[in-house]
Amino acid sequence: MTRPFCAVEARAPAKVILAGEHAVVYGRPALAVPVRGVTARARVQAAPRGRLVHAPDIGLRADLADLAPEHPLRRTLEAVAAQVGPLPRLRVHIASDIPVAAGMGSGAAVTVALARALLAFLGASWPVARLNALAYEIEKLYHGTPSGIDNTVIAYERPIVYRKGHGWRPLRVARPVPLVVADTGQRASTRVMVARVRQGWQRARARYEALFDAVAQAVRAAQDALAAGDLAALGRALGANHALLRQMGVSTPGLDRLVRAAEAAGAYGAKLAGAGGGGVMLAVTAPHAQAAVAQALHQAGAARVMMTTLPPTDEAP
Ligand code: MEV
Repeated sequence: MTRPFCAVEARAPAKVILAGEHAVVYGRPALAVPVRGVTARARVQAAPRGRLVHAPDIGLRADLADLAPEHPLRRTLEAVAAQVGPLPRLRVHIASDIPVAAGMGSGAAVTVALARALLAFLGASWPVARLNALAYEIEKLYHGTPSGIDNTVIAYERPIVYRKGHGWRPLRVARPVPLVVADTGQRASTRVMVARVRQGWQRARARYEALFDAVAQAVRAAQDALAAGDLAALGRALGANHALLRQMGVSTPGLDRLVRAAEAAGAYGAKLAGAGGGGVMLAVTAPHAQAAVAQALHQAGAARVMMTTLPPTDEAP
């Protein structure tokens, strides 16, 4: 096997959940899309000694052997090496502009970028399904009991309809969908938020099951609206989903304020995106309203605002 001495770099996108988070953990469908302009990047290169892992964004600089055996970066590198060949001396550099613990899949994107870079460095290539299976195992280290939606949308890099236990299908998008994603700046652990919903579900099972069924209806409405290219109907479905997430107790005053600001600035609809408790919200807008909604979100105190447009897909309905 020839091993390049130059650095090998790979990347993976962020994601947002358009509809269905939390309910997806309980078997309901959810919709997720990649956000291509916001990425995690991994670079692997040969080194004279050691196996250095450097991730300045999280203040990490360590030899692989000094990381805990369960550390997600160590597990990712070792899992690839276990299947492809022994890990040579190398230096790994990880950088990401995906906000951490904000609902944009930063952990899954780092895993996918890192595995891709190491595979390329070792001269190997995996089918996406195998990469996705590894990313799911690593997600468990980050989040405990993930549904699998984050690693799947990031590994396949396409809009998906996801159902736990059933896998994914391509999500049809009939026309470009302008989105604005805004970060509250508040950090929240997915593990904690999923556990909070589980406590609610354990205390009031019938009520939560009804909430999850109502989320599934909003997901179907959003899916139909995307397939029909009806942005106003999509906005209504997202708004309905946000109201249900509030009833589950995963929104915050900061998220609600940004949702209201987006709506007041002319968005078709807005909702928190991801686990909640902080993190990001998203708004769907008309093309001409995207910049004004982004500006309104800045003014309402968002720590960061990202504009992205979901391109149309060509899958049959
Ligand atoms: C997190 O991005 C989405 C949740 O539904 C958790 C999961 O699906 O694993 C909150």
